[in-house]
Amino acid sequence: MAVQISPSILAADFARLADEAAAVPNADWLHVDVMDYHFVPNLTLGLPVVEALRKATATPLDCHLMIAEPDRWAPSYAEAGAGSVTIHAEASKAPVRTLREIRSLGARAGLALNPATAVEPYEDLLSEVDMLLLMTVEPGFGGQKFLDMVLPKVRRARALIERHGGRIWLQVDGGVDAETIGRCAEAGADVFVAGSAVYGASDPVAAIDNLRAAAIRQSA
Ligand code: DX5
Ligand code: ZN
Repeated sequence: MAVQISPSILAADFARLADEAAAVPNADWLHVDVMDYHFVPNLTLGLPVVEALRKATATPLDCHLMIAEPDRWAPSYAEAGAGSVTIHAEASKAPVRTLREIRSLGARAGLALNPATAVEPYEDLLSEVDMLLLMTVEPGFGGQKFLDMVLPKVRRARALIERHGGRIWLQVDGGVDAETIGRCAEAGADVFVAGSAVYGASDPVAAIDNLRAAAIRQSA
């Protein structure tokens, strides 16, 4: 299990996104939170910004679609050059089709679950998925408090993934910082989204190094 850190640009300065991407050269991914005022009560950015960001940085884009119609829009994010496109299970009406489309366009396909959504009903979908994202806050806003209640699900998801060959990445997103990341890693997560803990730090590069070291220390 290789630890990866995906800083969320939701906590960056939206007027200077190219500079903010360049400020985290040690990031494995840039996490891009797409919100549409429908699936979540917030609005962020969409395809034109993802296309522009793609040209402005070599860091692969990890697009997290918190939108009401992922089946309609997710393939466009793969076409725009995102390295990974994650849709929410709660919003998708045809996840098999959409996940296959994402993959056929050359991106990794991710499936996200809100804190109250159980992982077990999605076991049969794991063959269609490259990454499982478990939300550790209710989606919609950065800077929220980490929900420890999700940790047992992280453990159960890791066990399911191992039963299916261990190929799938397990991402956690929301309230991940130097204090909470160890618990996530210990429970079996291997890809860590961090917004405020990276872009709210005076030294984002050092913040990523610290998060990575803390996760590696606790990794199973
Ligand atoms: C929340 C987003 C997260 C958010 C995380 O809906 O999906 O990616 O940016 O921000 P922090 O790390 O500040 O909780
Ligand atoms: Zn996110």
